[in-house]
Amino acid sequence: MSTPASNQETLLEVQGLQAGYGDVQVLWGVDLQVRAGQIACVVGSNGAGKTTLLRALSGMIRPRAGSMRFGGQTLTGQNAEAMLRAGIAHVPEGRRLFRGLSVRDNLLLGAYLRRDSRADIQKDLEWVYGLFPILAERAQQDASTLSGGEQQMCAIGRGLMSRPTLLMIDELSLGLAPRAVEKLSQSLLEINRAGLTILLVEQDVFTAFELAHTGVVIESGRTAFAGESRALAEDPRVRTAYMGV
Ligand SMILES: Nc1ncnc2c1ncn2[C@@H]1O[C@H](COP(=O)(O)OP(=O)(O)O)[C@@H](O)[C@H]1O
Ligand SMILES: [Mg+2]
Repeated sequence: MSTPASNQETLLEVQGLQAGYGDVQVLWGVDLQVRAGQIACVVGSNGAGKTTLLRALSGMIRPRAGSMRFGGQTLTGQNAEAMLRAGIAHVPEGRRLFRGLSVRDNLLLGAYLRRDSRADIQKDLEWVYGLFPILAERAQQDASTLSGGEQQMCAIGRGLMSRPTLLMIDELSLGLAPRAVEKLSQSLLEINRAGLTILLVEQDVFTAFELAHTGVVIESGRTAFAGESRALAEDPRVRTAYMGV
């Protein structure tokens, strides 16, 4: 038997989060709990507000209401730099690598806020190369020459270079071939085993529920369902609406 959920400390706790853009409100009340050491997923239809949620959690947009606690600290309304310093890394939808920069330089950009030694940063770079050997092979190549799956590796690697406690990934599998998704999934499990907590946003609920311990389903900017992935995958309402069964 695995450890009962209640024995694990909550790393991220979001309550009643509301956010949007200008006059457009997108999130109307998101509740989310992520336990330390776990993989959690956020699923929901296109336009449900998943990306907006991650943007609010990484400080790219400011929530209008609700609260966010992380590692015992209240971080609601902090900016992107503060969130990153607190240990939250955000791998954006569409990877967003810098064209014209090498794979290595893209990875190093993830470390730009760190004040520890060059040797420590180099050590983490070696760890990322160990996770994704193809990135070591292509280290000097322009990042735009990578395949979609390799770009996702580079974007995840860049996120890891900030030494986060929580790695948030927006659409791991979008636009990628099944083989690439399978490889990335294995890497996420390895990253999780190394001690990182992961929050995965996925349109593909099958991939999400397979990887994650717990999940939330967002509908029109609100948490509609939450629970263990296994229970969600068996919930008839979730199955009908999201799994085509
Ligand atoms: N920058 C923006 N300005 C205005 N509306 C936006 C912006 N980004 C997203 N939206 C709107 O917010 C809603 C939720 O989008 P998003 O968070 O990207 O959903 P998801 O990631 O679940 O597909 C959509 O209706 C979308 O059109
Ligand atoms: Mg999105």
